Order: sequence, then C-alpha cells, then structure tokens
Amino acid sequence: MFTVGIITASDKGSRGEREDKSGLVIREMVEACGYEVKRYVMLPDEQDELEKEMIYQSDELKVNLILTTGGTGFSKRDVTPEATLNIITREASGIAEAIRWYSLQITPRAMLSRAVSGIRGETLIVNLPGSPKAVKEALEFILDTVGHGIEILLNRTSECARR
Ligand code: MTE
Repeated sequence: MFTVGIITASDKGSRGEREDKSGLVIREMVEACGYEVKRYVMLPDEQDELEKEMIYQSDELKVNLILTTGGTGFSKRDVTPEATLNIITREASGIAEAIRWYSLQITPRAMLSRAVSGIRGETLIVNLPGSPKAVKEALEFILDTVGHGIEILLNRTSECARR
C-alpha cells in the first residue's frame, strides 16, 4: 500500500473562509485506489510554507506521493509550481503534461494551469489545479499510471505493465 500526503494551497481555505472540497475529492479518490492518507494540510499560498511542508512530507514522513491542489494559475498569489520546482531533485514532466493533455479535451482553460510534477528522494510530487472538478478529472486519468511510476521509483518492479 502506498502512502499519500495532501496539501491544499488556498489563502481563503487556510483562513477558514472556504471549505476544502478539493482536498476531500483527493482523499476519496486515492483511498478508493487503496492508498493510505498519512497527512492532509491546508496552507496559505506562501511559497516558503509550501516548500517546508513538501520537504517534511517527503524527508520525514517519507510518503510515496504528495498531491497538491490549488495555486497553479496566473494569480500573483499562485506559487505552488515554484515551491515544487524548488524542492524536487528530478522533474517528472510527463505527468503534468498528461494532466494538461487530458484536461484540454474537457476545457481550454486547462492551459491556464502551470502545474508541475517531479521527484524528491522516494516521493513523487504532483500539482493538481484548485477546483474539485479539475482535481477529479486529473486524478481519474493519472492515478493508475502514477501507481506504476511509484513502483518503479521504489524498485518494486522492473516490468512495465503497459508496454
Ligand atoms: N483542468 C481541468 N481538468 N478542469 C478544469 O476545470 N480549470 C482550469 C485549469 N485546469 C480546469 C483545469 C482553470 S479555470 C485554471 S485558472 C487553472 O486550472 C489553474 O487553477 P488553480 O489556480 O486553481 O490551480
């Protein structure tokens, strides 16, 4: 069973002014796939705080997967991709590309997400957009393959199931 950390980046959410539906969607969808949610936090759109939390979840909790939601757009407060790029050691751009490719078939607005994905140690980190709808659409497309990626990262398989 893989472990997951969820980070919701939202100024309003962290002030208690907005319910975190997106974090809940993530939790439900990953648990339905057999993942264990080890930590779930809501933070303001502050790059420093986001970086510290991602480092904590990766280096201390050693979760296999960190899913962030929110803060990927064009607003000046949107800094989740910058925080992620600062703390990963290897990019895994294919996942962010896949999310945008799939999402663009649903809405042209998907091009407005600057989400990135990458690896720190043995943790895969994937940015998701902020809306619950976007989160659901992205996860339904990537989750299965992300699981295979984590197996390879942890050296648990040498076989590519979907060659
Ligand atoms: N991706 C999917 N699959 N579905 C969506 O509805 N919304 C887009 C985009 N990605 C959307 C999507 C919109 S409107 C924006 S502004 C960007 O994600 C960035 O969202 P964020 O700033 O909340 O992260």
